[in-house]
Amino acid sequence: MILVIGATGGVGRHVVSSLAATGPETGVEVRALVRDPGQVTLPAGVEAVRGDLSSPRTLEAALRGVHGVYLMWPGLPVQPRVVEAIAEHAKQVVYLSTDVTDLADGEQPTSFHQEIERQIRQSGLDWTFLRAIDFATNTLGWADQIRQGVVRWPYGLAARSLVHERDIADVAVRVLTTSGHAGGKYVLTGPEAITHADQVRIIGEAIGRDVRWEDLPPENARRQLTAAWGNAAFVDARLAAWRSFVHTPERVTDTVELLLGRPPRTFRTWARDHADDFR
Ligand SMILES: NC(=O)c1ccc[n+]([C@@H]2O[C@H](COP(=O)([O-])OP(=O)(O)OC[C@H]3O[C@@H](n4cnc5c(N)ncnc54)[C@H](OP(=O)(O)O)[C@@H]3O)[C@@H](O)[C@H]2O)c1
Repeated sequence: MILVIGATGGVGRHVVSSLAATGPETGVEVRALVRDPGQVTLPAGVEAVRGDLSSPRTLEAALRGVHGVYLMWPGLPVQPRVVEAIAEHAKQVVYLSTDVTDLADGEQPTSFHQEIERQIRQSGLDWTFLRAIDFATNTLGWADQIRQGVVRWPYGLAARSLVHERDIADVAVRVLTTSGHAGGKYVLTGPEAITHADQVRIIGEAIGRDVRWEDLPPENARRQLTAAWGNAAFVDARLAAWRSFVHTPERVTDTVELLLGRPPRTFRTWARDHADDFR
């Protein structure tokens, strides 16, 4: 029995459907943690169990009889009791993390991912971290601008190694259903780094219309993004990263291919899969 936490999320929904599709061959049963079972449609054979990560005692029913857990963490304060509860029931956890460094002894976490990774490491569970660098779904934030035909954003030449959410899910399923992944810290990316401006062009091609790129001066971007995202430090960190990707493209790893025996999906494939989201 595998429990998928974040089962309605961008990655989790594909983890659920892939596990459910292979279930008849592998014998794996799938349970989905959901906040409101009445609001979700899950594939046939998947059991929905109500639970809320902000209230760890509500997870007990979902964790009963579970062997493996796919865990993601939404934008909530970290609740250490969640990892403890998982460790009381399950043997294995696969955690959707990001490109963080390992914490040294006594070092303070700078992100919730580092904090949760540390809790998991200390939990006694067999763990695997999926350290995805940048989701292609982040470009959905341009959808309104794309519908208007022009994207104004900073650093058009910043090259990013965006990963398709289905590839992350495929890796999660591989890790949950095959052995040899305990202690794996898998850094996941797409197959190549593509500039912001090219991402916009490729999305335009997928929806069959010309979409123009306009470089937004970083100072204007800083003001606009701080107003929109509400976190100046985060905005500054993003702007600094994008600036660096103009000269040094974001890292591309071969982890997806090594694990799945096929290359990751391209950004073009992602754009076609999501064309309707931009129309
Ligand atoms: N974007 C990136 O580039 C990037 C890169 C690396 C890592 N990540 C990480 O990936 C994770 C997001 O994954 P995703 O995109 O698959 O998820 P997502 O699409 O953001 O969906 C969030 C999921 O969390 C569930 N959820 C929210 N609050 C909950 C609660 N209190 N209790 C139980 N479930 C709750 C939601 O369920 P409901 O249907 O009930 O709302 C939904 O299934 C984040 O941790 C993010 O930091 C993102």
